[in-house]
Amino acid sequence: MKKSLRPLFSLVLLIAVGTALSCRAAVRRNLNFSPPELRVSVIRPPILNQTLLSFAAVELGEAESREEINRLLEGNYGYGRHRSISSYGRENHDTHRRAIGRIPAQLLHPRYTKLWPSFRENLRNWARSKRFQPDIMKELMAMVKQPLDRHYGSTGLVSIQSGPFYSSCAVVGNSGILLKKDYAEFIDSHEMVIRLNNARTEGFHKKVGSKTTLAFVNSNMLHYCARREGCFCHPYGEQIPIVMYICQPAHFMDYVLCNLTHKAPLIITDVRFDVLCARIVKYYSIKDFVEKTGKPLEDWAAAHDGSIFHYSSGMQAIMLALGICEKVSIFGFGKSNDAKHHYHTNQKAELHLHDYEAEYIFYDDLVNRPEAIPFLRDAGFKIPPVTIYY
Ligand SMILES: *[C@@H]1O[C@H](CO)[C@@H](O)[C@H](O)[C@H]1NC(C)=O
Ligand SMILES: *[C@@H]1O[C@H](CO)[C@@H](O)[C@H](O)[C@H]1NC(C)=O
Repeated sequence: MKKSLRPLFSLVLLIAVGTALSCRAAVRRNLNFSPPELRVSVIRPPILNQTLLSFAAVELGEAESREEINRLLEGNYGYGRHRSISSYGRENHDTHRRAIGRIPAQLLHPRYTKLWPSFRENLRNWARSKRFQPDIMKELMAMVKQPLDRHYGSTGLVSIQSGPFYSSCAVVGNSGILLKKDYAEFIDSHEMVIRLNNARTEGFHKKVGSKTTLAFVNSNMLHYCARREGCFCHPYGEQIPIVMYICQPAHFMDYVLCNLTHKAPLIITDVRFDVLCARIVKYYSIKDFVEKTGKPLEDWAAAHDGSIFHYSSGMQAIMLALGICEKVSIFGFGKSNDAKHHYHTNQKAELHLHDYEAEYIFYDDLVNRPEAIPFLRDAGFKIPPVTIYY
């Protein structure tokens, strides 16, 4: 009795210590060096649990989302009252909450009436292609890399090496842990440097580097940038390509507007790619919830605000990098008790609608157990080598 409890006890101890350091990935790596009997009980073979997979496929906010899209397609551009509105407001711009979900006021001006057909057409096409199709990963080259290559080929701003994939990509997250290391030069040495949500580099060059070849943003970012003088649609300048995922259908208006003046590709993520990212994160979140709490999976939605649950921009940027890069380096992801949440802001807490813990487990699988990741392997997609720099 005592004997059989011992491994369990040391496991608990290990997890307790690991949690205190907020370094989940380190815990999981440590387990690889544990005694065999412990390994058997913790590292399971990658047999994916069908119950979890099916549960991850249910989109709890789908009906509301459809309703909002139909409303906009019918030309009803008034103030929305849907889930995404207040939730995304909470996410980025608490003080601006009232304005969120509304079409930018200036666009209701007759001068912009000519943009409405394009807005509706883009939205309609987007909504129509929404479905689960994991092999969308293989189309990222054509959808993203080719336009970027054409842009850099014609401007000569960055010399792109020939080859089907970018030879190396850095995805730079915004965690304060970046300030504790000196990765600047290393980050800038990657062929592609992808930065997130308009994080500024000015004032931080020595820590985060200065090269940006792709800005990855959620559409809230462009929405605000589109109205701000000095940012107007172009966070890193008119010549830096932007890839953006749509968090609110109304943001197609910002897209249409900004696309008029942006001199580099402004690419909206394919909605099938969004669906895939959402499903992967949800799978990890549900799995983590069930394993940690021992509760039934039906309780997950209440615990995680299921209908507004969303992957983070960082997660999708990494997914994009997997599709267009030969190898992927991840910087500025993760947290530490003595580091700021963001290197460039004073935001204190993590956001409720993301499950960063679940995303960290996913990243750890990318590095250590890619075969355990659902959906990607079924689609026959080969995951390139990934390294995380803490
Ligand atoms: C799959 O996961 C659910 C939820 O954790 C669990 O109840 C079920 O027993 C699992 N099934 C298998 C075959 O492991
Ligand atoms: C965005 O701009 C590009 C380049 O000017 C153009 O080819 C494309 O049609 C535009 N897209 C929309 C939806 O206006």
